[in-house]
This record gives sequence, structure tokens and C-alpha cells, in this order.
Amino acid sequence: MKASSGGPCDTKGETTVTVGVVLHREGDRGARAPLVNDMEPKLSRLLEDVRRSGGPVLALTGAGISAESGIPTFRGRDGYWVVGSRNYMPQEMATHEMFCRAPEEVWRWYLYRFGACKHAQPNEGHRALVALDRGLGERFHLVTQNIDGLHQRAGATPARTSCIHGDAAYVRCAGPCDGKLPLPDMGSRDAGTPFTAVDRARLSCPRCGGWLRPHVLWFDEYYDEENYRMQTALRVASRAELLLVVGTSGATNLPMQIGEIAFRRGIAMVDVNPEENPFSELCEASERGFFARGSACERLPDIVRALTS
Ligand code: APR
Repeated sequence: MKASSGGPCDTKGETTVTVGVVLHREGDRGARAPLVNDMEPKLSRLLEDVRRSGGPVLALTGAGISAESGIPTFRGRDGYWVVGSRNYMPQEMATHEMFCRAPEEVWRWYLYRFGACKHAQPNEGHRALVALDRGLGERFHLVTQNIDGLHQRAGATPARTSCIHGDAAYVRCAGPCDGKLPLPDMGSRDAGTPFTAVDRARLSCPRCGGWLRPHVLWFDEYYDEENYRMQTALRVASRAELLLVVGTSGATNLPMQIGEIAFRRGIAMVDVNPEENPFSELCEASERGFFARGSACERLPDIVRALTS
């Protein structure tokens, strides 16, 4: 299964990130974000059913959950990278083909993005999911597309966290050598930091001397179990009684497949997002679905309380 489902057409345009404000507009489809402790009745009923059933819960997160920590989303307006006079979108930068053609430029882009992750702090959304992880124990699993490490830093249980697009904290040999290594300390960097011979040496495989690559899934690569836990994610989706989706635009393949499995099985589905997206459409089309319009920090704490209290 290939990482990208949409090719060049998967760009969803600009995203507005609003922090600490209830997000709704007159006339929008989907429910308004409620006042605290004033959850919409359908959402409340769905969560109560899941709480009583004691069934497994799968949370699926994307870049939106980290937006309120200050990390730009992929398809928002800060997502591109300038090389010379050209703007490159992540779909062009994050490819094996680009890495083969311009490894130093690809690494410069990743090191800049990784720097933003290192300085960011987990937010209320990440913390709410950790409360769900602790509250439900083995009944909980997190599938995240995020490589930023904020779920882990908030305290997510590693065995119950599947990073299906990799993890910025690791690198691996771009050639034949097996195994992950921690990302070497590359110092502090911004978008203008040049790539030096010292960087090249730090990013050399200790076994074969070839390039190390980021431990991330590129758009022209395929999901697998060894690096990206594809089968684990599908297995959890085939057993869950609730799919809780947070902050993803549904532009990649495995997450959409998880949404379709949940829809076909008729399990409870909740999508937390300030914007409509393919998951909110699935939720609105499902009898047991609910589009919880709003940001992760606004909506997740109440949702988690309803599932665990
Ligand atoms: N809370 C919840 N959702 C939010 C918030 C917020 N505060 N802010 C933005 N969003 C939503 C946007 O409306 C959008 O639907 O988060 C989503 C972010 O979408 P993308 O930028 O496309 O990120 P994501 O879906 O995670 O991208 C998938 O594509 O580039 C690759 O591998 C990369 O993992 C990434 C994958």
C-alpha cells in the first residue's frame, strides 16, 4: 500500500489554525463546538455506548493535533520549502526520488522541520489522548501519522502507539544495512542553515559509510509492518468499537483505509477537525458517526472525559 493516495491532487489548500477560540461559522455543516460540559446529545450518546461496552478504542491522529503546539500542518500555508527560486511542496520533497537527486537539500528541509518539533511542547490534545491511553489500558491504541514525537513526549505508551509514517527521532541506513539509530545531534538550525561536511559525516551510516536517511515514509514508498506497523494498524481497526480521528486531511492511503474499515463495520466514529474533510464526510454518512467540529485542544478533553469517567 503506497503512502500517498492522491498524488499531486491531494493538496487541500490553506488551513486556518485558530487557538483557544470556539470554531464555528453560521451555516456550516457539522455541529458547532459546544460550551464546556455541554456536549452535543448524539456525541454524548455514542461515547456513552462505547464507555458501557468496554470495547477497544482506536485514535488516529494527523498534523492537526500538533498545530496548536506551533508545528505547521503539511497542507497548510507554511508547508512549502524554497530551493533557489522554486517552491517545493512536501509531496515533492518527501520522496525517495528527491533524496536520490538532492540528499543534502532533503536533509536540510528535514532538519529544519525536526528543529521545529524539538522546540514544540505537547498540548491539551496530546495530553487528553494520554489520559485515554492510561484510562483504557490495553483497550486503547494510537495510530499516528505524526513524526514529531509529541504524543510520546506527552507520555503515550510505546507498545500502544503505532507511528505509521515514522519517527523524527530516528534515522536508518539509506542502503542495505538494517536497524534504526537515534538521530545524531545536529545542533540548532533554521531554514537558512547550510549543510556542511560535518553534517554529512554525522549523517553517514556507521556500518557502510553511505547516507543515513530520516526514519520516515516517503510519498513514493510503501507502508510495511517492520518500519511503519501497517498490519498492526489494520488489525486494530478491524477490532475497534470506536474510531476517534483527530486533525488529518485524509490525503494518505492507510488512514483512509482505516476510516473505510470503521465505516463498513458500522462502529462509532468521531472526527475532530475545524474543517470538513473525508473523515468528517464518513462520520456524517454513518448512523454511528459524529463530526466534532473544532480544534483538538477544544474538543478532546471533554471527549476523553466522557469515555473514561
Ligand atoms: N485541531 C484539529 N485539527 C486541525 C487543527 C487543530 N487545531 N488545525 C488544523 N487541523 C486539521 C486541518 O483542518 C487538516 O484537516 O488538520 C489537518 C491537517 O492536514 P494535513 O496538513 O494534510 O496533515 P495530515 O493529514 O497529517 O497529513 C498526512 O501527509 O505529508 C504527509 O506524511 C505526511 O503524515 C503526513 C501525511
